[in-house]
Amino acid sequence: MDALVQTQALTKRYDNLVALDSMNLSVERNSIFGFVGPNGAGKTTSIRIICTLLQPSSGEAWIDGHSVRDEPDRVRNRIGYMPDFFGVYEDMKVWEYMDFFARCYDVPASKRPGLTDELLELVDLGEKKNAYVESLSRGMKQRLCLARTLVHDPALLVLDEPASGLDPRARVEMRELLKELRTMGKTIILSSHILAELADVCTHIGIIERGRLLASGRVEEMIGRLSVRKRVRMRVSSKPLTAHRVLSGFPGVVDASFEGSAPETDEQPAALAFGLTEEVQDESAVLTQLVSSGVPVRAFAEESGDLEDVFLQITKGQVQ
Ligand SMILES: Nc1ncnc2c1ncn2[C@@H]1O[C@H](COP(=O)(O)OP(=O)(O)OP(=O)(O)O)[C@@H](O)[C@H]1O
Ligand SMILES: [Mg+2]
Repeated sequence: MDALVQTQALTKRYDNLVALDSMNLSVERNSIFGFVGPNGAGKTTSIRIICTLLQPSSGEAWIDGHSVRDEPDRVRNRIGYMPDFFGVYEDMKVWEYMDFFARCYDVPASKRPGLTDELLELVDLGEKKNAYVESLSRGMKQRLCLARTLVHDPALLVLDEPASGLDPRARVEMRELLKELRTMGKTIILSSHILAELADVCTHIGIIERGRLLASGRVEEMIGRLSVRKRVRMRVSSKPLTAHRVLSGFPGVVDASFEGSAPETDEQPAALAFGLTEEVQDESAVLTQLVSSGVPVRAFAEESGDLEDVFLQITKGQVQ
């Protein structure tokens, strides 16, 4: 395997807290690697160490064979970093912003205008060249930030939550942009706390929780290892026991359970949750079966992030 990024027992401690616990990671060249994990998992910590912005407490990371500890300058040359929070740049036009970062990376003056135009075109901001940065929408600012990470043509892009705060359309655009960058030969590391968001764009995924990399691998492998495709939460105004029986007998429905204590009679309201495997293509079939069994369903909703189940499965030893 041809790894561009490699870490060995990478660890970061803050007093008593182990923010990153002995992480061994390998990111192949020209892959899109997604870190997924809940708030506080250690995603930003890992990213900042890889980008040489934070010193590890122990362990090591190499980018293109260069140590983040011993050769930070060589590492920085190879990395374009997009932080999770976009700084404020008042009274600066889009082209000036690009020019500023190009200067920071010693791009010669003669090359800067052409480079700015080219990168703004790439992120679809050509028409905003003379607009003020603060006048851009959130999605545009994210794309501008991405454009400036590219000024020194780095091999590796490291993007901390590039899709956060974006509307669905802007997310799709960001995803397409990342795929395009990959076809241009870049390797990309990004983070998110939503697995579904990464599954579409990433070639590889690493699941991180409480500073530990619980599992990592190719997206297809990871999804294959996770039998539960999604989870559904529902509420019934009565017939909870009937609902439970219908769910338990439905092929492809797993882990049907009551939230809170199980109801004693079939007359009371209750909340239930269950998982769906690949066998169920369309969860409305489950709803139809419940309704035709006389269950008064009041709410029926897919859970937003399926991460919880992923973690549940991992902690049950079903992944790894
Ligand atoms: N400077 C610091 N001092 C003390 N603790 C810190 C510091 N920076 C981070 N931490 C702790 O390290 C842990 C990992 O934080 P990190 O920012 O890496 O998480 P994250 O996965 O990026 O979370 P989020 O999804 O919220 O961005 C957290 O428990 C956090 O409180
Ligand atoms: Mg973070």
